[in-house]
Amino acid sequence: MERRIYYFTGTGNSMRAARIIAERLGNTEIVSMRADPSEYTAKNCEIVGFVYPVYHWTMPAPAVSFVEKLDINPKAYVFVVAMPSFVCGIACERLAGILERKGIRLQYGNIVNSVANYVIVYPPFPSPKLRVPKTEKKLRKIAEDIFARKMRDYPRASRMIRRKRERVMTPYLELQKYADNPFAISEDCISCGLCSRVCPCHNIVLEGGKPSFRHHCANCMACVTSCPKRAIGYEITEGDRKLLDASNSGTPLVKIMRLPPKRKLYRNPYITVNDLTKESELWPKEAKQEK
Ligand SMILES: Cc1cc2nc3c(=O)[nH]c(=O)nc-3n(C[C@H](O)[C@H](O)[C@H](O)COP(=O)(O)O)c2cc1C
Ligand code: SF4
Ligand code: SF4
Repeated sequence: MERRIYYFTGTGNSMRAARIIAERLGNTEIVSMRADPSEYTAKNCEIVGFVYPVYHWTMPAPAVSFVEKLDINPKAYVFVVAMPSFVCGIACERLAGILERKGIRLQYGNIVNSVANYVIVYPPFPSPKLRVPKTEKKLRKIAEDIFARKMRDYPRASRMIRRKRERVMTPYLELQKYADNPFAISEDCISCGLCSRVCPCHNIVLEGGKPSFRHHCANCMACVTSCPKRAIGYEITEGDRKLLDASNSGTPLVKIMRLPPKRKLYRNPYITVNDLTKESELWPKEAKQEK
């Protein structure tokens, strides 16, 4: 029977996590949630994993719609590893709820605090040099747990986060509709199309050789971080601000969202830009698909 780990990633932390777990399990396919869930079903899988970042204290919207459409073997060992920077909120509970409606029980859940990657808001922190080794260590421990098919109750939001979530986070979730409005392409763009190939939301198409954004952006930061010319900027114009004010989605973050030319960018050091373009891979590399 097959083993699959589905991941959503912008800057590689979650893909790296999927690879570490797959390496321990052996002969495991890791599948980006950019793929079509009907082509990569988990109907015949004995192990099914989900790995994703945390956005606004919950599971990223594209990961939600992927899992909602995915067929899963009800007898599989199912796990989740969420990769927040600090606050996981309801990111695991959200998945557990979707699975429950499909009659599937989440058997193992864990979180790994990772480098915060929202570079249009802040430089990456804590320092990748310090945090990545800790992340790697925790992931290897989690991989051992999963290899041993351990059971572990998934992490839940604290009472305080639960109480504040709706009020604090609803405006940010509203903001997602306009998340790609402020992207601006500079003259340095060489029309290489890499931004379009790394986008996990199929949100970028090249028109006349220049990227055009399709308004279903998750703000994952993949395009910004992968552009070889740093040609993608983020500047909220007066027009965008009016739009945000009109939609009541103005938040304190909106005031500081921008991408200064010297802003440090981030991608997990074990993941290349080419890796981010992949739809699926068998991992470890030498693994052979079972017949
Ligand atoms: C749009 C956005 C929202 C985020 N919201 C949260 C959050 O609510 N809590 C948190 O701990 N980290 C948050 N982060 C940080 C990411 O969850 C974290 O950096 C993650 O490890 C990135 O994973 P990736 O490299 O697989 O994309 C956010 C990042 C982005 C881009
Ligand atoms: S990755 Fe950068 S250089 Fe390449 S098409 Fe996109 S914006 Fe242009
Ligand atoms: S457009 Fe850029 S930030 Fe938005 S989802 Fe695609 S890669 Fe991520």
